[in-house]
Amino acid sequence: MRNMSRKEYEQYPAPTGALLKWYDENRRILPWREDPAPYHIWLSEVMLQQTRVDTVISYYNRFLEQLPDIRALAEAEEEQLLKLWQGLGYYSRIRNMHKAARQVMEDCGGVLPSDPKELQKLSGIGPYAAAAIASIAYGVPVPSVDGNLLRVFARTTGYRESIRTPGAKKAAESHYRNLLPEDRPGDMNQALMDLGATICLPNGAPDCGRCPWSGFCEAFRTGEQESLPVKEEKKTRKVQKRTVFLIEAAPADPDTSSPGPAYALRKRPARGLLANLWEFPGTDGHLTEDDARQHLESLGFEVHSLTGLPSARHIFSHVEWDMRGYLVHAEAPAESAGLVYATKKEMEQLYSIPTAFRFYLSLLE
Ligand code: ADE
Repeated sequence: MRNMSRKEYEQYPAPTGALLKWYDENRRILPWREDPAPYHIWLSEVMLQQTRVDTVISYYNRFLEQLPDIRALAEAEEEQLLKLWQGLGYYSRIRNMHKAARQVMEDCGGVLPSDPKELQKLSGIGPYAAAAIASIAYGVPVPSVDGNLLRVFARTTGYRESIRTPGAKKAAESHYRNLLPEDRPGDMNQALMDLGATICLPNGAPDCGRCPWSGFCEAFRTGEQESLPVKEEKKTRKVQKRTVFLIEAAPADPDTSSPGPAYALRKRPARGLLANLWEFPGTDGHLTEDDARQHLESLGFEVHSLTGLPSARHIFSHVEWDMRGYLVHAEAPAESAGLVYATKKEMEQLYSIPTAFRFYLSLLE
């Protein structure tokens, strides 16, 4: 439905026509838009929940090359999925999608439902993703209200209350429902996403000169585009201090042509933050050199040397890790205590190590 004539745009409410025309001329070319099969839209929505479009594209293409349909996803091993997700973060997204793919195979005959209510019964699909999938993949006229659409709503309608409330979301849904074209709801939702991502930008930086909706925008009319939307203060994140050990194993036979030094890794617990992923061993708190040595000795290591490394920080949605690191040369205890040893290359190819450790991974030879 591209290249409509001027007359065709006039069949819609004026803001809808103006936005669709702008979208047809300016939309971002994205792989899931070129082939909007339900599985493709689903995957793109899951990836885009916490990750920027530019980053998602290569992950999206690689994922589909390896797992081209819902059945392949349902049958995949978790290790393969974690590897495909490595670097995107928020791993519960792919775990939920995996579970949902199995639900679809078992309960829905392998076909992703088109009804937003049915979609929301699937693991990891909330109201926003359900609306996006239903509208983009199946043409169901429902607005998909996320942060971008809330911001656009607050500015265009001059909504002066906090947008972080269920009431604001309801108001936005009802506003957009009136503007959604029956024949192109998915394009309208995606036009709003593009408007929010490229023009109606957050933090007081909208590019109103290029906006197809400036003539319909209350904030533009009153000059309030810098002060809207109103948001409540965000809760501050909890900062957790961590100490990370890069423990280099002594080579078994120093004379053989070695593939490079190997470092200790352990698997994180099956529940909680970064569940089942591999990490460098570590502990809570910032340990001094003496405390670090004692800690490792209590685990059975015979420590030969311990060198402080630069600190690093990683921000998750609810917590932040403030990490201090040590490079350790040590004799491993006879009992491995769940540790494996891997070279940097093996870490990159065989182990799913979260981005939180990227800085320390980059220090390895
Ligand atoms: N963000 C979430 N879904 C999107 C989509 N379909 N296109 C662009 N950005 C998005």
